[in-house]
Amino acid sequence: MLKLKGSIKISGDKSVSHRALILTAMAVGKSKITNLLESDDVIRTLKILKKLGIKIVRKKEFWIVYGNGTNGFIEPEEVLDCGNSGTTARLMTGAVASNPIKCTLIGDRSLSKRSMSRVTQYLEQIGAKIHLTKKDYLPLTISGSEHLLPAQHKMLKASAQVKSALILAGLNIHGETEIIENNPTRDHTERLLKYLNVSFKNTKLRNYGNKIKLNGPYEIKSKNINIASDPSSAAFFIVAALITPDSKIILKNIMLNPSRIAYIKILKNMGGKIKIKKTKIVSGEEVGEITAEYSKLKGVVIPSSKSASLIDEYPILSIAATQAKGKTIMNGLDELRHKESDRIHSIVFNLKKVGYKIHETNNNITINGSNIKLSSNINIKTFNDHRIAMSFSILNILHKNKLKIDNKDCISISYPRFETHLKKLLTN
Ligand code: S3P
Repeated sequence: MLKLKGSIKISGDKSVSHRALILTAMAVGKSKITNLLESDDVIRTLKILKKLGIKIVRKKEFWIVYGNGTNGFIEPEEVLDCGNSGTTARLMTGAVASNPIKCTLIGDRSLSKRSMSRVTQYLEQIGAKIHLTKKDYLPLTISGSEHLLPAQHKMLKASAQVKSALILAGLNIHGETEIIENNPTRDHTERLLKYLNVSFKNTKLRNYGNKIKLNGPYEIKSKNINIASDPSSAAFFIVAALITPDSKIILKNIMLNPSRIAYIKILKNMGGKIKIKKTKIVSGEEVGEITAEYSKLKGVVIPSSKSASLIDEYPILSIAATQAKGKTIMNGLDELRHKESDRIHSIVFNLKKVGYKIHETNNNITINGSNIKLSSNINIKTFNDHRIAMSFSILNILHKNKLKIDNKDCISISYPRFETHLKKLLTN
């Protein structure tokens, strides 16, 4: 029986890679980015920045971005193609909003079904002129302005992408931009700004939310950024080690941002033997080592209050739940409907097909763990969703490759080296 042993270096974090490119492009001068994730999504952001006049050059071990300032984007001659990347579409809409240029953003079929009004509603209120397809979708045309109004934005939904879009717009708005989020979301934009010595206020609210107060326009000085490994990508191998007998792996250089590793607490509550060792701070983010080994898991209830900090890990947590004793209940998964695929459907549809007892009611999922031995092949539909493809690749270790996954190419959206790394860890 195959097991996982040893250690690999996981690729750079996706969220930080997008932000490192955008913020160094909005700084003045030359910055070096090390360990940038070279995945399809991140390359979309990079190419869009180039079309907006930013010089970006690849060297052997790093990338160099020649920033033009917070008001330095030039009007692109072509449309800006965001591909499958929601982060690119939302963050770039915010970034160009306070520049006096007209841009059209497009995306692939999946991205063209995802809401953009969740960002543009705020930008329109402060003066950006925006046209959306069917009032909510890409293609979107935005005419930005240097004279957007400083304002207070109360976020209606928990979303790091929306928050970041508003922060990026605020960097070139004259006066105070205030953003209030009641449910905390990943805070990489705030951390990177702090690392880049941008002075702004971030106050913790009594309800654990945040109030971010910017006072633009800013001139950001260029600075080199080193990107730690992606904890959401690490989650696939951690769960693989927990559910595959006799496994033990060590993952080094993992970003340990608290808003990103809530899934580790859940897996530990399930009985997962996971150890974390914090080692250093890299470009404003905590970094360290994670050890995970085979464990007898038990079902847990995951309340909806945790959903913003587990948003990308529900697919792989569902795989862990199939191997746990008893029932796992995951509540309040509404936002999963609006990801690269309807992830509630993608998870339930495929796990049911394999034979697991799983059901959904009102955006909650219940999974009963069981020991299934497949006697014939089962077709798995990824719905072109990278996290679904990777999650079922992990479950496939236990099912001895009887799961036939329809499109593994989509994995390159967030983790082109996934299969190489998995092969490196798997041993007889
Ligand atoms: C991301 C935020 C999350 C997450 C996505 C990346 C980001 O979305 O699902 O993969 O980099 O800001 P939300 O906007 O729902 O928080």
